[in-house]
Amino acid sequence: MQSSQLTTIVALAILLTSPVQSATSPKRGLCHIPSNNHPSDDKIWRDPNSKLTWYYNYRATPSPAYLSDSPMHFVPMLWGSAPSTPSFLDTVTSMLDNGRNITYVLGFNEPDGPHRTGGSNIPADLAAIIWKSQIEPLKKRGVQLGAPAVTGSPNGFTWLENWFRECDGGCNPDFVPIHWYGDFEGLASQVGQVMGTYPDMKIWVTEWGLPHAGLEETQMNYNISTEWFDRMEVITHYSYFGAFRSDVSNVGPNSAMLTQKGQLSDIGSWYLGRQATKNVPKGTGGKTGIFTAWVVLVSGVVWAVL
Ligand SMILES: *[C@@H]1O[C@H](CO)[C@@H](O)[C@H](O)[C@H]1NC(C)=O
Ligand SMILES: *[C@@H]1O[C@H](CO)[C@@H](O)[C@H](O)[C@H]1NC(C)=O
Repeated sequence: MQSSQLTTIVALAILLTSPVQSATSPKRGLCHIPSNNHPSDDKIWRDPNSKLTWYYNYRATPSPAYLSDSPMHFVPMLWGSAPSTPSFLDTVTSMLDNGRNITYVLGFNEPDGPHRTGGSNIPADLAAIIWKSQIEPLKKRGVQLGAPAVTGSPNGFTWLENWFRECDGGCNPDFVPIHWYGDFEGLASQVGQVMGTYPDMKIWVTEWGLPHAGLEETQMNYNISTEWFDRMEVITHYSYFGAFRSDVSNVGPNSAMLTQKGQLSDIGSWYLGRQATKNVPKGTGGKTGIFTAWVVLVSGVVWAVL
């Protein structure tokens, strides 16, 4: 923790000395969570002026809503350990053979977390075996590989270390995705810890936010973290959680980029590079698990900041 604390201090110093803010960023992407109830919401993120450059959807194949006309670069993910037909490797290989530009893939969503909170719950040794057969071969095709995206808990870090040990040199990711639910200091410390442990790798922040907090606090956290991501060279991609309506949000209404009526919230609008809308997101979603589709797809693990 010593070096990560130091990194946090360095990060904060960088933050405080660089007041420039860009409206959009090439690093910015969409964590796409399609809504069965409101499929038209997908269009909001597809707007060519949005300047979101990439997206993932927890799946191997592109979202149907973005098949034909999306300027966003698709990033396939192997979510969990369940075998599929065709396999993940065959699916991505055939997309490459058909000329689709696949530059990156993501491996395993929160493998250290239970299904209840959206984790894929895979033992590190099994994840190493699956990685070697389904993900590592894509490196030969020039695809850059994202390490398993563990939760922000201390167990997550241990899981990742165990996984690398089980791989025994046979898993060679190019970047480490981070998930973080909590305040900025915790986020910066987590990034610092990953930088210290895996100094040769880039970092993606593929889910983050300050869950279940007040509106202003949530917006401030959003502002500070996006400004910081844009400035940190090691962080090449980030995607905010989340792109859904506030009444089904499992991270509290104020984290949602859409209101309960499907209008952009301030954060949603800022994320797309536009002005504040003053639309206040409302709702109490998530506490009773209304959105069953998410239970398998979405992480909701919230870690208090140390
Ligand atoms: C493929 O996508 C990547 C990432 O967006 C981009 O940098 C690259 O130029 C693209 N390649 C082609 C051949 O379009
Ligand atoms: C967040 O940034 C926007 C500009 O992008 C600004 O209008 C707003 O006041 C900021 N909010 C907080 C709480 O810092």
